[in-house]
Amino acid sequence: MKCNTLFYIPFFFFFIPRFLFESAIGGDTIAPNQTLLDNGTTLVSQNRNFELGFFSPWNSGNRFVGIWFKKVPQQTVVWVANKNNPITDSSGVLTITSSGNIIIFKNQSDMVWNASSPSSAVSNPILKLLGNGNLVLKNDTSDYDNPDGYSWQSFDYPCDTLIPGMKLGRNLRTNQEWYLTSWKGIQDPSPGEFTYRMRTEGLPSIILRQGSNITFRSGPWDGVRFGGAPVLHQNTVFRPILVYNSDYVYYAFENTDVSIISRMVVNQSGLVIHFMWNPNRNQWVDITKMQSDRCDDYAICGNFGLCDIDKSPRCACLNGFTPRLRQDWGRFDWSGGCLRRVPLNCSMPTGFRKISNLKVPDTSTCIVNRTAVSVEECREACLINCSCVAYARTELIGCLHWFGELLDMRTYAQGGQDLFVRMPLSELDSSTKSKKVAVIASVSAVSFLLLLALTIWLIIRRRTAKNKADQKHDYPSEVDQSIVGEDLDLPLFDFVTISAATDVFSLANKIGEGGFGRVYKGVLSIGKEIAVKRLSKDSGQGLREFKNEVILIAKLQHRNLVRLLGCCIHRDERMLVYEYMPNKSLDLLIFNQTEVTPLIWQTRFDIIVGIARGILYLHRDSRLRIIHRDLKASNILLDGEMNPKISDFGLARTFGGDQYQENTKRVMGTYGYMAPEYAVDGLFSVKSDVFSFGVLVLEILSGKKNRGFYHPDHDLNLLGHAWKLWNEGNPMDLLDASLLVPKSASEIGLRCIQVGLLCVQQRAEDRPTMSNILLMLDSENPVLAQPKQPGFYTERTVTDTDSSSTRKKPLTSNEITVTLLQGR
Ligand SMILES: *[C@@H]1O[C@H](CO)[C@@H](O)[C@H](O)[C@H]1NC(C)=O
Ligand SMILES: *[C@@H]1O[C@H](CO)[C@@H](O)[C@H](O)[C@H]1NC(C)=O
Ligand SMILES: *[C@@H]1O[C@H](CO)[C@@H](O)[C@H](O)[C@H]1NC(C)=O
Ligand SMILES: *[C@@H]1O[C@H](CO)[C@@H](O)[C@H](O)[C@H]1NC(C)=O
Ligand SMILES: *[C@@H]1O[C@H](CO)[C@@H](O)[C@H](O)[C@H]1NC(C)=O
Ligand SMILES: *[C@@H]1O[C@H](CO)[C@@H](O)[C@H](O)[C@H]1NC(C)=O
Ligand SMILES: *[C@@H]1O[C@H](CO)[C@@H](O)[C@H](O)[C@H]1NC(C)=O
Ligand SMILES: *[C@@H]1O[C@H](CO)[C@@H](O)[C@H](O)[C@H]1NC(C)=O
Ligand SMILES: *[C@@H]1O[C@H](CO)[C@@H](O)[C@H](O)[C@H]1NC(C)=O
Ligand SMILES: *[C@@H]1O[C@H](CO)[C@@H](O)[C@H](O)[C@H]1NC(C)=O
Repeated sequence: MKCNTLFYIPFFFFFIPRFLFESAIGGDTIAPNQTLLDNGTTLVSQNRNFELGFFSPWNSGNRFVGIWFKKVPQQTVVWVANKNNPITDSSGVLTITSSGNIIIFKNQSDMVWNASSPSSAVSNPILKLLGNGNLVLKNDTSDYDNPDGYSWQSFDYPCDTLIPGMKLGRNLRTNQEWYLTSWKGIQDPSPGEFTYRMRTEGLPSIILRQGSNITFRSGPWDGVRFGGAPVLHQNTVFRPILVYNSDYVYYAFENTDVSIISRMVVNQSGLVIHFMWNPNRNQWVDITKMQSDRCDDYAICGNFGLCDIDKSPRCACLNGFTPRLRQDWGRFDWSGGCLRRVPLNCSMPTGFRKISNLKVPDTSTCIVNRTAVSVEECREACLINCSCVAYARTELIGCLHWFGELLDMRTYAQGGQDLFVRMPLSELDSSTKSKKVAVIASVSAVSFLLLLALTIWLIIRRRTAKNKADQKHDYPSEVDQSIVGEDLDLPLFDFVTISAATDVFSLANKIGEGGFGRVYKGVLSIGKEIAVKRLSKDSGQGLREFKNEVILIAKLQHRNLVRLLGCCIHRDERMLVYEYMPNKSLDLLIFNQTEVTPLIWQTRFDIIVGIARGILYLHRDSRLRIIHRDLKASNILLDGEMNPKISDFGLARTFGGDQYQENTKRVMGTYGYMAPEYAVDGLFSVKSDVFSFGVLVLEILSGKKNRGFYHPDHDLNLLGHAWKLWNEGNPMDLLDASLLVPKSASEIGLRCIQVGLLCVQQRAEDRPTMSNILLMLDSENPVLAQPKQPGFYTERTVTDTDSSSTRKKPLTSNEITVTLLQGR
């Protein structure tokens, strides 16, 4: 430091007469004989993405040197130089010394900030603002793209923002650390109380601290994401990266498209948020929040406590544990966590209890055993050491062992990992259950019998009603029978195989539930992943839908239809075995859910076109010509490449060549997707599928559900809202705020909205056919008709008695397929 001081004195003498030297700023660089004054001059990176200069946060009057996004009108600062030392007037100057030091001074000579480069002096130094927002100091002669040539870079000194190219973590060789610190206030960029940094003890995870207290922990990295972090799908706005080797451990992310502007920020309230800039809306949209709910508060339920956001109270002890502290009036104090009901004693036999869908406990005391490859080996290795209290096995990390406390566990509705907690064998053995359990059991047995009686009565009643309905003409059954005669080239799986593949239909493997039963994920012994739809036994509709689906789908082959691998019939059990779709269903991806990052434009467009191709195949190109009758977001599945696949053919009907429209008394479908003539009069045709497709298109573009849509300004549903915006000349306002339609695609974006509106027109004859729709989507400059008024554009027009009461709150029950028996 001493030599620095010595050095600067002559330096300032030399530079005080500012007017003596040239200060024309060369675009994105500053050379030793140049200065950046606080007179509105800035450096702009060559790609014009970033800008550097003096600024005042929220007109505070204090001047700082910072870097912000050039293309974002509301100045959004990503990096600040003199954050601890504001300049109160406009006398600030930024320059570099000939030996390669970056300095900011005020009032001619008062040093405000300097970046003394740790490495040796640089000859011919030059300061340059790169296109990724990194401000670097380097030899003028050396290559700019080589990070090793930088003697100083702003990316090494993060503030509260992480942008692509920056790292959050540690250089294990030099022990240099990169971490984020919140601002103290909106006008004060000096370090606030929250830090977000990589912890390398145990297994790496990122920890948010308030002062020294941990407030949030990311789960362990599973190769794609941190176990506790929001679900990330490919084809989203950004892609996370974790590097973990002997030199580095760090987190970073990259945008999937260079035109996207995104940033991750730790804000002053201690929330870690990933934002994306939407230029059409002129606003920042938050894509994900690291903390999704209160269960993400660190260790909120204490040691051996488990947080479940869907329960009240949220906290509970693991099975076999009791709260350590009990407060008055039966309220539990969770700060003490939980204690074992029966203490572990290693001279007695112990076993493990499995807990599924978990954010695994804090891994700071974890030990990774890389030699234990299989689950059994992992278990054995834990069993040997008495202080091992739990183990987990994950694909990418391997075998994890915990010692001591199990802190910060929560459950997820889906996803998460399995944890095996060590218990005395007596606690696991069901034969030693106490008398209390027996009492509860007998009480529940009585209620169960009552329930059973009620259920049977209901089923019988329903069957009779249904049979009556069937005896009248309901289905074009002759069509079905003609197909039954043909032999099906479809493998029959035996029940044992399916049962083993799904872990005896364990709850952990359940991936969905529909009107006709549950869907389980399974893995065949050959390693192939499957989805098993187990039709509920008590569903009177089961057999008919089963046959229908098997017969239809076995004959269909198209890349946009889900593929049936086989079926399984075991006593009165019926199961369908499909290929497994890793990206689950479309509704989980498009509707605003905090734990899912939104899809980018190209993916959404490809999904729309894919669905259209699938429906066209059903309507026109397949041997059978099929009306699906239940097209909806939850029936569109996505494979690993995000290709949409239409599923659930339980309601599908074949129709003859000239047979165009059918009439049914049993209207089945899903509210929000049913065409008016179908819901009201029971008329279905290819055009009622087109209506449902139109609803899907508008849902995909807006990210909102048609049913349950709420807008403060009016009572319309999504279709009505789209129609209103269309007539007002602002159709693009319909788009999801997090959806960036690139300029080059804005015409096609608009066209998609128009196609959606054409499909949902009131009159079936006005709606285009699927082949027309594909022409409209695919061709260069198609001529599109002006859409007319959509059907069902207010919720009230739906023939649904409780629609007014369901409008405000999103219902899940209306997602399942419903049957309306027409009273005529
Ligand atoms: C400033 O420095 C640059 C490079 O060091 C040199 O090319 C330029 O001529 C200098 N300008 C003046 C006025 O000295
Ligand atoms: C700022 O000052 C520099 C050097 O004195 C001058 O070249 C430049 O034109 C000024 N810019 C503005 C916007 O006044
Ligand atoms: C600027 O510096 C001069 C002397 O170097 C001093 O008298 C004056 O008070 C300073 N002004 C401010 C605003 O610091
Ligand atoms: C340069 O900055 C360091 C801290 O980064 C500080 O300790 C040192 O005093 C500064 N040098 C001068 C001349 O102000
Ligand atoms: C800069 O270049 C000089 C020679 O031109 C070299 O000695 C020095 O090591 C270089 N410094 C860096 C940081 O590249
Ligand atoms: C940290 O936690 C302790 C105990 O809960 C609390 O007293 C203290 O205020 C907390 N510190 C901060 C900075 O929140
Ligand atoms: C932090 O972000 C949350 C969520 O966007 C917001 O509600 C809160 O007001 C922000 N805090 C500050 C201080 O800006
Ligand atoms: C563990 O069990 C053994 C055998 O029953 C018993 O002798 C021993 O006292 C127990 N130890 C503890 C700490 O309870
Ligand atoms: C790791 O697991 C193996 C068995 O797979 C075991 O032999 C070994 O002792 C374990 N290592 C540690 C450190 O627990
Ligand atoms: C059990 O594991 C812990 C942590 O790895 C270790 O310190 C201890 O020595 C082990 N005990 C035995 C008996 O292997």
